[in-house]
Amino acid sequence: MNIITLASRKGGAGKSTLTAHLAAQSCVTGERALVIDADPQGSLTLWHSLRSGGEPRLFSAARGIEAPLAHAMMEGYDWVFIDTAPSMWVVVTEAIRAATLVLIPARPGLFDLNAVRETVNVARERNRPYAVVLNAAPVKRDDREAPVVAQSRGFLDKLGVPVWSGQISQRAGFALSLGAGLSAAEADVRSLAADEIGRLWNAVRRSVEAINAANAAARANSESARADTPSETGRPRAA
Ligand SMILES: Nc1ncnc2c1ncn2[C@@H]1O[C@H](COP(=O)(O)OP(=O)(O)OP(=O)(O)O)[C@@H](O)[C@H]1O
Ligand SMILES: [Mg+2]
Repeated sequence: MNIITLASRKGGAGKSTLTAHLAAQSCVTGERALVIDADPQGSLTLWHSLRSGGEPRLFSAARGIEAPLAHAMMEGYDWVFIDTAPSMWVVVTEAIRAATLVLIPARPGLFDLNAVRETVNVARERNRPYAVVLNAAPVKRDDREAPVVAQSRGFLDKLGVPVWSGQISQRAGFALSLGAGLSAAEADVRSLAADEIGRLWNAVRRSVEAINAANAAARANSESARADTPSETGRPRAA
């Protein structure tokens, strides 16, 4: 089961917006996905209440994320998306610890980017893969990024923080579709907003594949190292 945690200490960075659009996008592409609302503000719960059909399913994390994650595992979900509060409460750090990949939305600009450090530190301390997603960025002109986006990439690069190479632009469509209980693609599959979320979802899938492959290789290495280690009797532990 792949767990994508959307986290940022900064309020209004786009955690709930990206959680909803990504989770709905994953369902469009045929995945069994679930969202966990781990923010007492209840933005995801509100969005979900406006949807018809019930997919992706929503679990609350009112009493922590352990129980909803165990439930999701038992029910065989492939993807879990967790929306978190703009804080470093225990439930947020637990959601980061449980993550296959932590996505940190940030608006381009010094103050917002500076605020990602705290979330980055928590992900690093817990050894979880993470990446910043530049959100609400000025729309590209002639396929060129705005100077503030290029400057933001430079700032994060100096901190050694990985950043998704694409961007989610400031588009009314992101907010409007959520207000109707939809995702960008459900509102208009040919919209630029839907295209950007599609690209982000593809990047998330590719990253998670790479993370899972690296984890499997590390496990195989440590198992073969254990098998090669002589036991107390002088014989190898495993055949
Ligand atoms: N790419 C975007 N284009 C247009 N509006 C956006 C975009 N991203 C977010 N918004 C708007 O910005 C506001 C804050 O976004 P959102 O609620 O997703 O942030 P958040 O990080 O979840 O905030 P909080 O920390 O309070 O939970 C919302 O009104 C949302 O509609
Ligand atoms: Mg939110």
